[in-house]
Amino acid sequence: MPEVAAREHVKNILPVIDQSLKKLDIKKDIDYIAATAGPGLITSLMVGLEAAKTLAFVYNKKFIAVNHLGAHLAAVFLQNKKVKLPSIGLVVSGGHTALYLVEKIGQYKFIGGTRDDAAGEAFDKVAKLLGLDYPGGPVISKLAEKGDDKAFDFPRPMMHDKNFDFSFSGIKTSVLYGYKKNKQLYKTKINDVAASFQKAVVDVLVFKTVKAIEKYDAKSVILAGGVAANQVLRNDLKKAVNKISREGLSNPDRGIEFFVPEFNHCTDNATMIAAAAYFKVKDKKFTDINKVKADPNWELV
Ligand code: KG4
Ligand code: ZN
Repeated sequence: MPEVAAREHVKNILPVIDQSLKKLDIKKDIDYIAATAGPGLITSLMVGLEAAKTLAFVYNKKFIAVNHLGAHLAAVFLQNKKVKLPSIGLVVSGGHTALYLVEKIGQYKFIGGTRDDAAGEAFDKVAKLLGLDYPGGPVISKLAEKGDDKAFDFPRPMMHDKNFDFSFSGIKTSVLYGYKKNKQLYKTKINDVAASFQKAVVDVLVFKTVKAIEKYDAKSVILAGGVAANQVLRNDLKKAVNKISREGLSNPDRGIEFFVPEFNHCTDNATMIAAAAYFKVKDKKFTDINKVKADPNWELV
């Protein structure tokens, strides 16, 4: 609900800034100020962006506008100095599911994305229809730990299509129909439903990412975004990537590196915005605060 989200932003932005500056002197300890300018909900973006621009203006700091999806990918550099390029980046969040070819940090080529729901959105919607809490991802993955992922046969939409696009609404609909048909079974077998649903989403994500690595002969893969906190996705993708390293198409000895941010840097956080800004500062790509505007559809390129 965009209006509710925006109001919460207005209410929280100043206390958050106050809290984060408690131990710091903004005049001496802060070199630059960065903020997300897109993509996302316009009203929420505006609150954050205008607050950050105001700070930059008042304290005379250089400003960097950051793309939210690029920031998710940049979060891996909080723990790793180097990533072998080209890399395939998979960003899976509540609003996006996309594969990128990363030829240089800060330079991305979109190769495919979801045609309907994002992966995280599917987790959230399935949780809601099963009467579980929001956000659905952590709740479903917790239940799935005790479930059998083969108990229910949910579809893997578009998995074998010859493109890098995704579709998750079909999996959600399949859970919905199953639930409507047999509520009692779904309620008693909630752990199995959670595990089987999660596995369907993970299988499609892993399969397509592996295909992208093979097609673009990538040397590494970066998994990022809120859904990257999912342990089954982390494990399955890592295993699949290790397998390519041994059986790789062009070079059987090639080792493909697997990168994923630490858990607390997967879901939205301020550190990843700073990480993305760091690379822009290195390239001296500053943003004019008089010109920048929130862009809800800012594409990552
Ligand atoms: O990146 P993020 O924090 O916000 C957006 O940019 O959208 O991602 C939030 C999404 C939510 O849909 C949430 O359900 C999902 O990430 N998520 C997970 C897990 N933790 C968070 N999905 C699956 N498994 C998890 N463990
Ligand atoms: Zn995000």
